[in-house]
Amino acid sequence: MKGVILAGGLGKRLYPLTKITNKHLLPVYDKPMIYYPLECLIKAGIEEIIIVTGGNNAGDFLRLLGNGKEFGLKHLHYTYQEGEGGIAAALALAEDFADNECICVVLGDNIIEKNIKKDIEDYSKKSRGARIFLKEVPDRERFGVPEIVNGKIIKIEEKPKNPKSKYAVTGIYIYDSNVFDIIRTLVPSQRNELEITDVNNRYVELGEMTYSILDGWWADAGTPESLFKASRLVSETGANNLLLLKKK
Ligand code: G1P
Repeated sequence: MKGVILAGGLGKRLYPLTKITNKHLLPVYDKPMIYYPLECLIKAGIEEIIIVTGGNNAGDFLRLLGNGKEFGLKHLHYTYQEGEGGIAAALALAEDFADNECICVVLGDNIIEKNIKKDIEDYSKKSRGARIFLKEVPDRERFGVPEIVNGKIIKIEEKPKNPKSKYAVTGIYIYDSNVFDIIRTLVPSQRNELEITDVNNRYVELGEMTYSILDGWWADAGTPESLFKASRLVSETGANNLLLLKKK
């Protein structure tokens, strides 16, 4: 399995913090945000990773992460998203890199406490369809929310006014190579983006969606409140335990 980190976008909800830099380069406690999704994939045993970025600060990712040596990687791959198009449009840029293998996609502002290695191993037994990670949260109206009947997801709604379950769909997804054909069929949503929720609903319709409930805490660091919360959670958990990198 290969890994894809989506780290583009304008980070409008964090403006003016993102006026002169990319959201994923902002600090979360004592490390740049992008370190956490990178570590999430590496700890899960994934070594071939691509970062999809965009905007004016793409070069700063290279300056920060280089070829990934500091993380024990042989290479780190990069691609560049022109303009804005939504999560699914950014993911489409990873098609050549994926080269028909299954991928684990992590949104660059999603930070988790625990290791998802077991879930990846479980998915890899069949390596088919999609798997998403759910987490119970109080403010699920901000996220994709699944409707679950008899233990099966029957639909996911993006930012629903009346959420149909207590779970949010986190920004960690596992897909087979069919994901790129699905993306090609999408049409832009009301917010003029190709939505990852539409991708996931297609897998639901095909009867090929499974899910895991995420263990430990989850934070998306895309708003001032959640960025602050993410820093607090990382500091309380002990950032040194969380990160592969040793403090120099
Ligand atoms: C995106 C997805 C949403 C998901 C969330 C997780 O939301 O569209 O389904 O729950 O990431 O962070 P966005 O950050 O684009 O509002």
